[in-house]
Amino acid sequence: MFLKFKSKKKKKKKKKEKPVAQTLINFPSERFEANGDVLTLRLATVSDIPGLVAIQEAVYNGYAPWVARDFYHELTQEEDRLYLVAVKRDQVIGFIALVRREQVPDLHIANLAVLPVWQGRQVGSYMINTAKAVAWEIGLPMLSLEARRSNTGALALYDRLGFRVQDVIEKYYVDNKEDAISMVQDLEA
Ligand SMILES: CC(C)(COP(=O)(O)OP(=O)(O)OC[C@H]1O[C@@H](n2cnc3c(N)ncnc32)[C@H](O)[C@@H]1OP(=O)(O)O)[C@@H](O)C(=O)NCCC(=O)NCCS
Repeated sequence: MFLKFKSKKKKKKKKKEKPVAQTLINFPSERFEANGDVLTLRLATVSDIPGLVAIQEAVYNGYAPWVARDFYHELTQEEDRLYLVAVKRDQVIGFIALVRREQVPDLHIANLAVLPVWQGRQVGSYMINTAKAVAWEIGLPMLSLEARRSNTGALALYDRLGFRVQDVIEKYYVDNKEDAISMVQDLEA
């Protein structure tokens, strides 16, 4: 091509997503059905952070226990994490935060929430069952979580999905000094 015909316009570089430090497992996106709706479950990225904060605000009356900075740190600095988001038409409608704890050892569900309008459609169950499959795949013998004593709906769901109460941690939640119910699920046969 003659030089004079060369366009001087620089090709717009596609914005690259910042890599996520989720080393736990290679998790390809997958589709799943939630009461007739087809959703996608995929790795969370930093561009999902506003959505993650918004979900928390929606489920906790405007209060986000984890702010954007916390999510950013988790997604980019921490190893042994797996953050998954449930997505419907580019909108993040739920997420699960998983942490591998070497000492215990277990896979800990550190955070889990589904937008209120999407609750009760098996999205939470699907994400918990996925966590179970991930733990199994990476050879961890147990899945664990904590829930507020007052969160009876979530506790009933965990019980139904095979968790058992392991402990009660008194005044675990600093905001209202509420007890935490610690639940576990053994994955070994
Ligand atoms: C707990 C939570 C993640 C469950 O997700 P989900 O997609 O609604 O769960 P599923 O549809 O798979 O299961 C529904 C079950 O969850 C339980 N549940 C807990 N909170 C519920 C709520 N607000 N609405 C409906 N079901 C709720 C019930 O046992 C329900 O059983 P049912 O359908 O027989 O009534 C979701 O309700 C949520 O985001 N709650 C607010 C945040 C929270 O409490 N997170 C957990 C912290 S430990």
